[in-house]
Amino acid sequence: MGANAGISTSTLLRSCLLVALAVVAVSWLESAEENNVDMSMSPSPSPAPLRSQKKLPCLQNPPNMTEMTGGQAGEVVHDYGGLTVYVTGSRRSGHAVILVSDYYGQCVHGRGQFPSTKLRQIADKVAMRGYYVVVPDLMKGDPYTDDRQFEEELGMIYICSVLLLVVMQVEAAENTKPLIAALKKDGMRSIGVGGYCWGGKVAVELSKTKEPQAVAISHPALVVEGDMKDVKCAIEILGGELDTISPPEIIKKLEDAFDQNKAVDHFVKIFPKAPHGFACRYNSSDPFSVKTAEEARVDMVSWFDKYMKKP
Ligand SMILES: *[C@@H]1O[C@H](CO)[C@@H](O)[C@H](O)[C@H]1NC(C)=O
Ligand SMILES: *[C@@H]1O[C@H](CO)[C@@H](O)[C@H](O)[C@H]1NC(C)=O
Repeated sequence: MGANAGISTSTLLRSCLLVALAVVAVSWLESAEENNVDMSMSPSPSPAPLRSQKKLPCLQNPPNMTEMTGGQAGEVVHDYGGLTVYVTGSRRSGHAVILVSDYYGQCVHGRGQFPSTKLRQIADKVAMRGYYVVVPDLMKGDPYTDDRQFEEELGMIYICSVLLLVVMQVEAAENTKPLIAALKKDGMRSIGVGGYCWGGKVAVELSKTKEPQAVAISHPALVVEGDMKDVKCAIEILGGELDTISPPEIIKKLEDAFDQNKAVDHFVKIFPKAPHGFACRYNSSDPFSVKTAEEARVDMVSWFDKYMKKP
């Protein structure tokens, strides 16, 4: 086969991928519309300026950007499977959990940058249950921050934004594969992936490969029914009753999709009165929010215990 044929094949593949992603994005938008998902990012028919519109729920309850890392059990490692990661727990456990952040990312480059403190605290607590926990910086040092406008970053047209987000998620899953390979090389017998919001879709993409033994997603963004048929490992889906990005109606559709994919174990739970972000971006001054987030973490760890530590 000549070089030209090779190029055109790869161009063709790329176009197919884009079309496939567009289909995913459109199907999410359709189901979002059907289920009255908060579409506050969509261009408004009234001339209200975008800036004055409500924030996308994925960006509500922003983390404390000035909080520093102090007092965490783990450390930052540069270049683990090509990624900068926060690692915590004992490598000797032989069981690795990868936690994939929400859209605010897990930035670990340079001093003074947002270190995703709550996610690291979750990682430390999961590690205490006998896991080697890795939190990769899949935004490669360039996470979303509140001083940037989402619309400016991703373009003005909503469908393009959603498409771009899905492309980013699929790319992030690809970038996680070498990390999984590195973990296996370091003696990990089983791999679990926990994904939050943006990272929920990344985790689902990874569940379509044969590597992870278990996946747990909390308040996912852009996960669609069509994804479920390709899931190859045990999957837990934790949704919030008040989540407007993946409301209970959408979570129910994900659950129903398993009627067609009976090959994998799955567990679905809706947390009462829980908004989007409840598992990793909760209000730490509010006892109910703290309790809900803890319950979500315990459920995730139990899922990993069940499918990663079986003899
Ligand atoms: C954010 O963290 C800093 C440093 O720990 C603290 O001084 C500040 O009060 C926090 N802000 C909020 C809104 O919690
Ligand atoms: C967090 O919870 C406390 C206690 O319920 C409340 O007073 C505070 O307003 C909440 N903060 C935010 C940002 O919602």
